[in-house]
Amino acid sequence: MLVVRKAAQKAVRKHLCRPFSASHTHLQERKGLVLGVFEKNGEEESVHLTEAAARFDQSLSGKLSELLKIAGPGLKKGKSRLFYGIHQDFPCVAVVGLGKESEGVCGAEKWDSRKESIRQAVSAGCRTLQELKVSHVEVDDCGDAKSAAEGAVLGLFSYDELKSKKKTRVTSKLHGSADVDGWKKGVIYAEGQNLARFLMEAPANRITPTAFANTIEEKLAPHAERVTVKKRSKAWMEEQQMGAFLSVARGSEEPPVFLELHYSGSADSQQPPLLLVGKGITFDSGGISLKPSQSMDAMRADMGGAATVCASIVAAAALKLPVNIVGLAPLCENMPSGKAIKPGDVVMAKNGKTIQVDNTDAEGRLILADALCYGHTFNPRAIVNVATLTGAMDVALGSAATGVFTNSDWLWEQLQQASVVTGDRVWRMPLFQHYTNQVTDSQLADLNNIGKYSRSGGACTAAAFLKEFVMAPHWAHLDIAGVMSNKDEVPYLRKGMSGRPTRTLLEFAAGLAHRG
Ligand code: BES
Ligand code: ZN
Ligand code: ZN
Repeated sequence: MLVVRKAAQKAVRKHLCRPFSASHTHLQERKGLVLGVFEKNGEEESVHLTEAAARFDQSLSGKLSELLKIAGPGLKKGKSRLFYGIHQDFPCVAVVGLGKESEGVCGAEKWDSRKESIRQAVSAGCRTLQELKVSHVEVDDCGDAKSAAEGAVLGLFSYDELKSKKKTRVTSKLHGSADVDGWKKGVIYAEGQNLARFLMEAPANRITPTAFANTIEEKLAPHAERVTVKKRSKAWMEEQQMGAFLSVARGSEEPPVFLELHYSGSADSQQPPLLLVGKGITFDSGGISLKPSQSMDAMRADMGGAATVCASIVAAAALKLPVNIVGLAPLCENMPSGKAIKPGDVVMAKNGKTIQVDNTDAEGRLILADALCYGHTFNPRAIVNVATLTGAMDVALGSAATGVFTNSDWLWEQLQQASVVTGDRVWRMPLFQHYTNQVTDSQLADLNNIGKYSRSGGACTAAAFLKEFVMAPHWAHLDIAGVMSNKDEVPYLRKGMSGRPTRTLLEFAAGLAHRG
């Protein structure tokens, strides 16, 4: 009896799983399609498809819209619905909800809902198909090919390098749209952010300062014509008198690296460069001021500033942006040991300023101080430094936006405009003298590396400290501690290190390149 029932079940399964055509039997060949649908306006009867979806529907004599009606109420934004076997070339079709067609930029929120909805919906559709082990998807541009590509490429990324069981690798391609350039741009933007996510997520025993520098060098190798990479050694740092950076690096057995990237994209090789500087602590234990062990593993991403800066330069090179960029990443570990710097020690930065290190966990500002001093030698048109600098930044804004401290209204405008396009927001923070007073009051030295009122305004005192190493008129410090990781706030990024704000840095550089 049991045998008979099993045989019957097998027959039913075989029938249900029968593919549309024999050519689709092999998993590797399975192709999927992602199509968009808008939310209905009021009592509207018909489904409201995107242009590409409507054409697909026509080619099937209206079968898709008919099935969508049968499937029930309209699709909510970011939700997807699957249809099997309705088209010869695409055994699986994911229809995704884009929200209202009328969505656009909200001035108060600094938010482009239309672009964000596209990223969210496309990512949801692609992931649903990935779950079904579909290895190639074609994607509707949903009215904005760049955002659609970002949704696909960001949504499909996961860090499973070190797992035996990996997610299906999915390739994506534009479907039914002429905007191939927009799509290609979106892919490069998203791959840039994915490179930063990869570097941030990887464990600190894999991404050491040396491994970080080598990875970036490899990624830049195809662009050697316009790029030079310098991996500076400890001896060079000593020559440069980078006493603040060296004081952090000395606690670790892992050699520090000062990574220096030059991208010459402008036709005018004399054009002053944009200078990007990223904090590159490949692991922050806190040093002698040791951090609590809970969640300390997240400090493998304390090189997020260096990762986003270097990844945006890799992407700028891939886009051949007509602009010159210099990238600097001081890379080291912050570890406790017999050689490590101790609370109360005084060190001297490259510009001769002395610093009393009262807390060895406030190490980011020390390594950035020397990098900023060195950066001025390139006579940059603007300086942007990026760092997972303070827990206080996370307390202030959470993961909604990167905090921007800047002495330049012009630079602020540029960054803000870029962030509305990318959906990876920035928010302006104060650089008051009030905070400077707190770091210039040191018992033993010119500066103290922590504010005198302990934790109050911690993100602002850190920024005020950095300001002491800046002479340029257009400087911005981006504190990215709050946006470092993602739970589910950004729906098109999986849980993990976020790679934010790589795309905003890139969009900002593209703005400088094209608008001057
Ligand atoms: N890397 C941390 C800041 C951080 C915390 C980034 C959480 C991302 C998530 C930084 O080096 C640090 O430890 N800062 C201290 C400064 C304090 C000692 C003045 C902090 O924020 O507690
Ligand atoms: Zn720290
Ligand atoms: Zn740190």
